[in-house]
Amino acid sequence: MTDMLHSYSTQYGEAWCGDSLKLLERLEDNSINLVITSPPFALQRKKEYGNKEQHEYLDWITDFAALVHRKLRDDGSFVLDIGGAYQKGTPTRSLYNFRLPIRFCDELGFFLAEDFYWYNPSKLPSPIEWVNKRKIRAKDAVNNVWWFSKTEWPKADISKVLAPYSDRMKKLLEDPDSFYKPKVRPSGHDIGKSFGKDNGGAIPSNLLQIPNTESNGAYVKGCKAVGVKAHPARFPSKLPEFFIKYLTEPNDLVVDIFAGSNTTGQVAETLGRRWMSFDLDLQYVAASSFRFIDELDENDIQSTFDKILSGAHVAFEKRQVSLPFAAAAE
Ligand SMILES: C[S@@+](CC[C@H](N)C(=O)[O-])C[C@H]1O[C@@H](n2cnc3c(N)ncnc32)[C@H](O)[C@@H]1O
Repeated sequence: MTDMLHSYSTQYGEAWCGDSLKLLERLEDNSINLVITSPPFALQRKKEYGNKEQHEYLDWITDFAALVHRKLRDDGSFVLDIGGAYQKGTPTRSLYNFRLPIRFCDELGFFLAEDFYWYNPSKLPSPIEWVNKRKIRAKDAVNNVWWFSKTEWPKADISKVLAPYSDRMKKLLEDPDSFYKPKVRPSGHDIGKSFGKDNGGAIPSNLLQIPNTESNGAYVKGCKAVGVKAHPARFPSKLPEFFIKYLTEPNDLVVDIFAGSNTTGQVAETLGRRWMSFDLDLQYVAASSFRFIDELDENDIQSTFDKILSGAHVAFEKRQVSLPFAAAAE
């Protein structure tokens, strides 16, 4: 079996199994509009891959980021969801998630377009020792979501991701005259008549509140049918959905280099973006194909899974778009 497998394809994208460092190399330079991903975090890597120290983690992730930089278009973006971590044995935080943007910008030439924060209200309290037992730390429920850009002017349109208006704002829009007297706020903002205009929604803030409670219907059902555990570190589809809508247009190319259960590919497919997803673990890749199987019976689920696990390729639908991927990798 080669070290790269073209596992499955859909109308808009392809899922590959292999090391993203090698798979990324196969993509043409300056070809990607958006890389959005959630890497294994420092502590998870420690658990799974032995005793890597956190500075080694930074070296490790910087190699991927350097390649991403080369493969991005000039108006492209790199969005990285990364959780913080405690230092081993003490109630003090590691600084690795803060060192990461400094390193990417200083060494690789990325710009930090904006720092986002993903607040997951459904997160369970941890670490148990500091939060539950000794009660000396608050529950850690916010991830950093660093939005890097290759130039200072990445493609972006915030009007594509407007948030619902608050009840107060809805009332104001119904009857602006009786609700508000134009005035200048202490902050200097001039709250004039234009504030009463309905723009279809409010400008969202950089704090994204998204509970991670999705059941992932077809995906979880498929995992149960073949008797494997669902991926333990999935992000909610609303997270990639926000950035894909905000930073790309239909037919743009979205890549997830640590795709896991391929949440990103599924969202990109639904939104009509071309996509490529890479993951090192063949079982994760095979199971992620369940996201693209509609209402098939358990035999179909099992045979698709077995086929991908054996190293073969499954085409769900004929791909209708071209991808900037070197044919030699097929
Ligand atoms: C946090 S998970 C991503 C979960 C994903 N966001 C989802 O919603 O399912 C990180 C993934 O990175 C994969 N991974 C780790 N090292 C990799 C590498 N060198 N190349 C490709 N994938 C890798 C792991 O197998 C794991 O599935």
